[in-house]
Amino acid sequence: MVNEIKRFRDLGKIEKAWCVEVAARLHEELIPEGFLVSLGPTFLKLFYEDVGLSPHSDVLYSLSSENDHSERVLGFISISTDTKKFNRWLLFKRAYRYMRPSIFLALINPRALNLVRLFFRRSDVAVSQEATDHFDSEVINFCVHSKAQGKGVAGKLYEASLCLLTDSGKKKLRIETGENQQAAINFYVKHNAVFERTLVSHSGKKSRLFSMELT
Ligand SMILES: CC(C)(COP(=O)(O)OP(=O)(O)OC[C@H]1O[C@@H](n2cnc3c(N)ncnc32)[C@H](O)[C@@H]1OP(=O)(O)O)[C@@H](O)C(=O)NCCC(=O)NCCS
Repeated sequence: MVNEIKRFRDLGKIEKAWCVEVAARLHEELIPEGFLVSLGPTFLKLFYEDVGLSPHSDVLYSLSSENDHSERVLGFISISTDTKKFNRWLLFKRAYRYMRPSIFLALINPRALNLVRLFFRRSDVAVSQEATDHFDSEVINFCVHSKAQGKGVAGKLYEASLCLLTDSGKKKLRIETGENQQAAINFYVKHNAVFERTLVSHSGKKSRLFSMELT
């Protein structure tokens, strides 16, 4: 299986459209209990498009040489180079894109909108708690299609993202993964990430915080 790694921002218009489609699908399938999934597929697609285009983040895709577009995306990693600036950019420059799906969401489930408020509150809490950790970059999400797992696809994506971060002068990467995501936990340990502590969210969900020095 020949595969290459491409940045979202370097893809053509059509490739971009099916990449965000597959990223949203992989996210829903592999991390079904996550916060973003509860906001629905339209939100997820807009979100992955924004992560790929923001000046404070990037998405790298692993693409195979398959002709069928839906089979081409093997996986992706999304990273932020400044999470605080990325959240602000999303809030002040892109919020209008989420208005229509938000209204729809509010109509079908008004309580779901509380999650959006929680998201921004959660990031503030995390930033203040981690002021002494000196993180300057973060893994937002990381997924490999179940058919392509165990073949080193994630390893290549991860290495490429570390190169990108190092080249942009970043020093310390923040990685948070669910307590039940055993494959991801093993993956980060195998790639020499350092376990920092267990985090508990407002809803009581546990996750593991890792760090990675970038040299
Ligand atoms: C984590 C993930 C991206 C790894 O993708 P991958 O392409 O299979 O990983 P690689 O083949 O490059 O790396 C393999 C290493 O990852 C770990 N790993 C991968 N799958 C595993 C599994 N099913 N069980 C245990 N460890 C696993 C192991 O350390 C493995 O090394 P080994 O083969 O020497 O044991 C993939 O399992 C995935 O998408 N998981 C669900 C989404 C997720 O949890 N994302 C993390 C959010 S931060």
